[in-house]
Amino acid sequence: MNITDLGTAKLSYQDNEIELPLLEGTMGEKAIDISKLRGATGLGTLDSGYGNTGSCTSEITFIDGEEGVLMYRGYPIEQLAEKADFVEVCYLLIYGHLPSVEELTDFRNSLTHHSLIHEDMKKFFEGYPPTAHPMAILSAMVASLSAYYPEEDGDTNIIRLLAKLNTIAAFSYKKSIGQPYIYPRNDLDYAGDFLHMMHAVPAEPYELDDTLVEALNLLLILHADHEQNCSTSTVRMVGSSGANLFASIASGICALWGPLHGGANQKVIQMLERIEKDGSDYKKYVAMAKDKDSDFRLMGFGHRVYKNFDPRATVMKQSADEVLDLLGVENNPVLATAKALEEAALSDPYFAEKKLFPNVDFYSGIILEAMGFPTSMFTPIFALSRTVGWVSQWKEMLTDPQNKIGRPRQLYLGETARDYVDIEKR
Ligand code: ACO
Repeated sequence: MNITDLGTAKLSYQDNEIELPLLEGTMGEKAIDISKLRGATGLGTLDSGYGNTGSCTSEITFIDGEEGVLMYRGYPIEQLAEKADFVEVCYLLIYGHLPSVEELTDFRNSLTHHSLIHEDMKKFFEGYPPTAHPMAILSAMVASLSAYYPEEDGDTNIIRLLAKLNTIAAFSYKKSIGQPYIYPRNDLDYAGDFLHMMHAVPAEPYELDDTLVEALNLLLILHADHEQNCSTSTVRMVGSSGANLFASIASGICALWGPLHGGANQKVIQMLERIEKDGSDYKKYVAMAKDKDSDFRLMGFGHRVYKNFDPRATVMKQSADEVLDLLGVENNPVLATAKALEEAALSDPYFAEKKLFPNVDFYSGIILEAMGFPTSMFTPIFALSRTVGWVSQWKEMLTDPQNKIGRPRQLYLGETARDYVDIEKR
């Protein structure tokens, strides 16, 4: 393991002192190893939201939130966004190196040839009401894959999951609008096939637009992994108990659904629509976001880790401008509100002081809206992309000799011991 021993850090408490190992990762990040703290001192730690706590070592993704750096396996996100396609990035994340021509061809072929789902699974879709959120269907379907494929299948299950998720996501959409399911096509690439399964109908041929395929491909690359965020930590936590791949990833899908995480892209458009219906008075909403007595937040703004800018948002903003130009939707009132809101927030000292700026979901929501996806599909598209990050992290966890079941502690603040009171005396 590429870990550097920097000696020790001293912790003094009451009349005691303890030395704890001080470690350095390959990008110069320093961490105090507290794994022996409780055993040596009886002390625990308290870190709500895990803002300071590293739950594992990892070789997959590096983020420097102060400098706005994001790298997959050492490759800067900007270079991958410009030069790679999503399937190549999947290979990189899972196996740790850029594939050779032969490796990439084999990997692409396997993804293509596992995209059909078991015909019996189609019956599952019938049980949902048309109003069901596709994230509910996606998480249930992914957990259900474990009923069809044995745990021992290892890497083949990773391929199955990535390939079938595209199909499951598109089928869940078709179900919600009452259209027939469109089967995958082996001559299309991952992003193109998804667009085809989403938008084609059996009655006429479907023409793929290269710019839209490229925009989706970019969006999938930018969301593919983001180290130990809420959903990835959930996948690792569930997987640490020995739960199978499909069960672990289903838990990640549920964690991603929340509006403070992957659900933010859907909430961005809902917020913009609300502002637009309210006379496009975006200044009122900026004021509400600043008001301590209001729980309103500007969705798509702020990030736990990035405190200067989100490098994914920079790339995505450029793509958003191109897609909006291409589709000629610059007159869309919701998108006009987005631009006005972005400018107002960026020039407001409150947002600068709190280091709040548009995150990747602000622009991905805008692009997906412009591309004609229904808002309910925004988070499933995020899940399509992040699944490769989850499986890479899950695979890494399984081979980590330090891995043990995830089990945080707490600082108990409840009642001290008291005697049970019989019901007639309460
Ligand atoms: N609008 C207005 N104020 C905000 C916002 C926002 N979007 N985000 C944070 N703040 C304020 C908080 O009120 C808080 O103010 P205070 O210091 O006066 O109490 C301060 O900024 C810090 O906010 P926290 O919630 O403590 O920051 P945290 O790191 O825990 O949260 C988060 C990060 C969840 C992303 C938050 O910024 C947020 O809720 N954003 C909106 C939802 C969103 O866009 N989520 C997508 C994240 S990206 C992703 O998951 C792919």
